[in-house]
Amino acid sequence: MAEILKPDKNGIEKAVNILKKGGVVAFPTETVYGLGANGFNPVAVAKIFEIKNRPFFDPIILHIAEKDYIKILWKKIDERAEKLIEKFWPGPLSIILPKTEIVPYIVTGGLETVAVRMPSHPVALEIIKMAGFPIAAPSANLFGKLSPTEAEHVQRQIGEKIEIIIDGGKCPVGIESTVIDLTTEKSVILRPGGIPKEDIEKVIGKVEIIEKSEKILSPGQLPFHYSPKTPLKILRNWNEIKENEKAGLLAFKEAKFKEKFKCVEILSPKGDLLEAASNFFSLLHKLDNMGLDIIYAEPVPEKGLGIAIMDRLRKAETKKYK
Ligand code: TXA
Ligand code: MG
Repeated sequence: MAEILKPDKNGIEKAVNILKKGGVVAFPTETVYGLGANGFNPVAVAKIFEIKNRPFFDPIILHIAEKDYIKILWKKIDERAEKLIEKFWPGPLSIILPKTEIVPYIVTGGLETVAVRMPSHPVALEIIKMAGFPIAAPSANLFGKLSPTEAEHVQRQIGEKIEIIIDGGKCPVGIESTVIDLTTEKSVILRPGGIPKEDIEKVIGKVEIIEKSEKILSPGQLPFHYSPKTPLKILRNWNEIKENEKAGLLAFKEAKFKEKFKCVEILSPKGDLLEAASNFFSLLHKLDNMGLDIIYAEPVPEKGLGIAIMDRLRKAETKKYK
């Protein structure tokens, strides 16, 4: 079981040390408990998915402790964002805008946008400040289970898989942050939460809430989810590769039949699914930008994070190949 620590100097230092070493810790925010990792470390972020048992990759919110951080995480800062930040940060509002290169694709589920929020919980703020990097953190629950609002909830769900939980008592807001997408001219709430729509509208005018029917169970099915522009086919048989096509290969651990491809990218030379998951989106983007006719993706073992990788590949596969 995880060690439950008070949010004193000792507890916070322990949490920060684990984060700095690429580990994962549970910590309180004003909304719900988060399962945090170094947002600049792709392998650390992949561990979050492994612990949560998520069968798919969902984009994760980056938590910051100083407003200025948005300048290195977002490509351009929107006027609406400026107003909302002024009014509601620190607090339960996550804002989505185009990401800079520094934000790893595993954080965003391959998307070019990133959600950022500055929590108001003093313990969260202290951990982020001491760590010195943004903390990627979804709610600290298992896939499909309720979000935890007390340290004990976290312990029950994922206590066996993490080293420590920082106990900040009950989360004062108790529901997740409102997630608002400002990447288009329309302001769209993707998830209602701690800050009501009406309050947001007072600051930036009309806001839409995404329809329930559009909010499909798996975010992997949402229209704004990343798929490559280049046709993609899951490689079921090495004989199916045509001689005259400019093909790329996304291989699992070794480059077999290298001569058949214009380029080959390897997810994990060690055959480690954690490493494979951490490289998955960035390598797919790399192949997608090479002007290929087709990307072949070698299947990975369907266990642990391999389930989420295969889910993503099936969704990215071009229709006619399915
Ligand atoms: O209050 C909260 O937001 C908590 C605490 C820990 O901060 N975090 C949280 O994270 O609820 P999570 O991962 O459980 O939910 C984040 C939601 C997901 O539904 C995800 O799909 C959406 O935000 N999201 C994050 N980044 C996104 C992006 N770039 N585009 C679209 N949706 C995004
Ligand atoms: Mg959640």
